Amino acid sequence: MRILGIESSCDETAIAIVEAREEEPRGLVVIKNLVASQAALHAKYGGVVPEVAAREHVDVIFPLLLEAGIARDGSDIDAIAVTAGPGLVPALRVGVELGKTLAWAWGKPLVATNHLEGHLYSVLLDEEGEKAMSFPALALLVSGGHTELILMKDHGVYERIGATRDDAAGEAFDKVAKLLGLGYPGGPAISKAAEQGDPIAIHFPRPMLESGDFDFSFSGLKTAVAVYLGGREVEKVEDVCASFQAAVVDTLVTKTMRAIAQYQPRSVILAGGVAANKALREALAAGCLPAGRQAGSPAYGGVKFYCPSLKYTGDNAAMIAAAGYFRALRGDFVDPLALEADPNMKLI
Ligand code: KG4
Ligand code: ZN
Repeated sequence: MRILGIESSCDETAIAIVEAREEEPRGLVVIKNLVASQAALHAKYGGVVPEVAAREHVDVIFPLLLEAGIARDGSDIDAIAVTAGPGLVPALRVGVELGKTLAWAWGKPLVATNHLEGHLYSVLLDEEGEKAMSFPALALLVSGGHTELILMKDHGVYERIGATRDDAAGEAFDKVAKLLGLGYPGGPAISKAAEQGDPIAIHFPRPMLESGDFDFSFSGLKTAVAVYLGGREVEKVEDVCASFQAAVVDTLVTKTMRAIAQYQPRSVILAGGVAANKALREALAAGCLPAGRQAGSPAYGGVKFYCPSLKYTGDNAAMIAAAGYFRALRGDFVDPLALEADPNMKLI
């Protein structure tokens, strides 16, 4: 089955073609993965402006579709998967209307993909990722809009065991970068600066570490950085970045390890834009090593760890096609004349 993926929920316009091979060797093969980022356009506003994003999506989505090289009558495509939410309504609508139009004109089945489900399925796009969905799987989903611990019991059967009560992890990176004048998006800038800094130079709080649940909170940490910066002339921005990043990574990893101990998953998945963070990838990978080979407590060892390669951590349409494929297998299609963008679309 060949799936056309369409994504326009935020500031990336993306078109992809993913082939699900039914015969051996089974798995998902990415035929095309086209992403046009608007990050530079929104940088001057310090964040994504929905109407500006929508106009840009309109400008670039057709050239991307043509670049994908699909037959004019869609005959080399079996299904279309489009992100229907969550996200920014004006932005989402561009992709949704394109998906609806193509599905109707070509007579192809249409799948409404949840953007968060797309991130979860991004691990399947790498060669080694095929076994990531060994259920139950525990996923730490960290992006600009979400920070959640999700127990995946089967395809489409999820339980949220924890989430942020305020800012998402990526949002914290973006806000702290703004405080430091490092521009938007903040994650890449902070992690780059952090490489030259000392993670124990400043002690920032690890919020909600002892809360006894799997929830997170990052707005207090951002305030702690603001208070620190307000009181002094900062000598080394790199130290602030490294120390802030260490606080975020510590919090995320500690809670994920506790969730592993409690839920005993067969695999652990790290996904979403913040999964590009090297310190986070390394710390969680180390925590999942077999007992005896890790720095932390051996009680947590032995679970298989999956994280998408860097080209699939940020927003893309290949992950939307991947998640869409599993919905298509269940016959979970939508009416191309009725589908509407849903900014608050729920995963669970
Ligand atoms: O998944 P994504 O591309 O878009 C959303 O669905 O939100 O995630 C974007 C977020 C931004 O907040 C960005 O700052 C963050 O991911 N990010 C990072 C890194 N690269 C991107 N955060 C920390 N370290 C990074 N290397
Ligand atoms: Zn995303």
